[in-house]
Amino acid sequence: TSLDPSHPLSAGRTADSRLVRSYQGERQETVPVWFMRQAGRSLPEYRELRVGTRMLDACLDPAMASEMTLQPVRRHGVDAGIFFSDIVVPLKLAGVAVEIQPGKGPVFEQPVRTAADVARLEEVDPASLGAETFAPIAEAVRLTTAELGDTPLIGFAGAPFTLAAYLVEGGPSKDHIRARTLMHADPETWARLMAWSADVTGAFLRAQLLAGASAAQLFDSWAGSLSLHDYVEHVAPASARALSHVRDLTYEVPRPPAADADAIGDLEPLVRNVPIVHFGVGTGELLKAMHEVGADTVGVDYRTPLDEAARRLGHVVPVQGNVDPAMLDAPWEVLSAHVVDVLERGREAPAHVLNLGHGVPPETDPTVLTRVVELVHGWRA
Ligand code: CP3
Repeated sequence: TSLDPSHPLSAGRTADSRLVRSYQGERQETVPVWFMRQAGRSLPEYRELRVGTRMLDACLDPAMASEMTLQPVRRHGVDAGIFFSDIVVPLKLAGVAVEIQPGKGPVFEQPVRTAADVARLEEVDPASLGAETFAPIAEAVRLTTAELGDTPLIGFAGAPFTLAAYLVEGGPSKDHIRARTLMHADPETWARLMAWSADVTGAFLRAQLLAGASAAQLFDSWAGSLSLHDYVEHVAPASARALSHVRDLTYEVPRPPAADADAIGDLEPLVRNVPIVHFGVGTGELLKAMHEVGADTVGVDYRTPLDEAARRLGHVVPVQGNVDPAMLDAPWEVLSAHVVDVLERGREAPAHVLNLGHGVPPETDPTVLTRVVELVHGWRA
């Protein structure tokens, strides 16, 4: 499916950005940088805007979600905005009773633990979740990309396993033991839950890309609790299914002028896919499998050095990461040496987008993040 001609990628606003080209495997002179959770509590302007509004209400208010997406881009000069929303938003829009409790995370009224619970979920057919369901999301994306200009917006969604881990547990959990038990105790029910989650989260991601996002990131934050065998057997097929909702999206760019352009005559435009990043925490053993579900770029947490991650990916896959969030509060000499070390290790991959190894901690001094952006933008291999 070809994106609309007015989409920032098709219109040529973001197709040649450092971010998009890096995700497509083309190393840029300047390494692009953004931060997971760059929007949110580390910013005083965010805390001020959020007063009196619940998290999920903020996500479904297009003007507010858009403003919160733009705040860190204006302040830090990062190479991308990440859409302000949450992985549980599509579940809420599908009618699941969920709240996000401050300092805790998503909490569900009714955990999903049995075949009957899954059957109740399945009463919502994800195919029915079209433009109308995601209207506030699409509107927020449109407002945001109109302001972002040449800076790409990254859309995101939770991977089916991370969503299922929340649904089965009913809220945050340490090792997701109930979810992992269900996977083995009743693989058929598990597979149905995963397929349903894949379609709901895939539709959410597709809505963001159609409305104007220039790249997508699938977050499988809790996949690190799985063995490689369980990941490949019980999780990867659903993640591939989620990505199949967006893998068909393409756009056209003009062919670069060839030296003998006259001889070639009229040039066909190049067709490119919208780039997809796949990130998880504690997933050093899963990197290759996470690439294979249909991602272009793999996000690496802070536990695996980027050169080692690049090696595990055969030196042919762009990587994103992986500054340790704990370093953000260390003295500048320590932090800056760590950032440069990450940049140097990132040269082992065909392309690198600098990010954290997980989200910005809420207590982070935001001026430190701005300084990291300046350091990365000034660095040359
Ligand atoms: O800047 C950004 O990265 C964009 C927005 C974003 C949020 N959530 C906003 C948010 C993104 C990409 C997410 C994804 C998300 N949500 C993930 C995957 C990424 C990861 O961190 O591993 C997960 C697991 C969730 C579920 C979730 N939502 C958690 C664990 C929490 C934290 C609870 C807390 O208060 O500490 C949330 C709430 C949440 N999502 C906040 C924000 C800004 C905090 C809400 C607040 O300000 O009160």
